[in-house]
Amino acid sequence: MKIQQLAIKYQEFTSMDEMQNDDKSLALAAIEAIKGAYAPYSNFCVGAAVRLDDGTIVTGANQENAAFPSGICAERTAMFSAGAAYPDKAMVSIAIAGGLNGVLDHNPTSPCGACRQVMAQYQTKGGKDMSIILVGDGKILKFSRVDDLLPFIFDNI
Ligand code: THU
Repeated sequence: MKIQQLAIKYQEFTSMDEMQNDDKSLALAAIEAIKGAYAPYSNFCVGAAVRLDDGTIVTGANQENAAFPSGICAERTAMFSAGAAYPDKAMVSIAIAGGLNGVLDHNPTSPCGACRQVMAQYQTKGGKDMSIILVGDGKILKFSRVDDLLPFIFDNI
């Protein structure tokens, strides 16, 4: 038996101005997308923006429903929309921003397990790393690939 250890490297920024331009514009698109959130039950409003490998940005926001499991997170709204509209383009980055009543907290909103799994599969489908940018107020985290937020990904399909 061996004890193994996993280390995750990620970047942390205190301001969007420290980020590279395309990441900054994706983060801003995610913040803008919060406006599309429909969250009458949780009041937790989230926006997501996906960048495709040709530079196209597709956004989404969480959509809740009285039949609770029928709602969907911002990230999956954006990815499913991108997957449906641009099936041949790889998704190379996703930015996520959100908070109670749409106000960004210092600690960024982090994607749920289901969204991480969906990211993982689109990353495999696209054949390119998909970076993940979590946007908080004065704290932005960048992970260079989905594996960093979902180690030991299930993709035995
Ligand atoms: N939510 C997202 O859209 N993305 C996340 O990363 C976290 C949670 C949504 C789901 C639900 O509508 C609300 O936020 C509260 O969980």
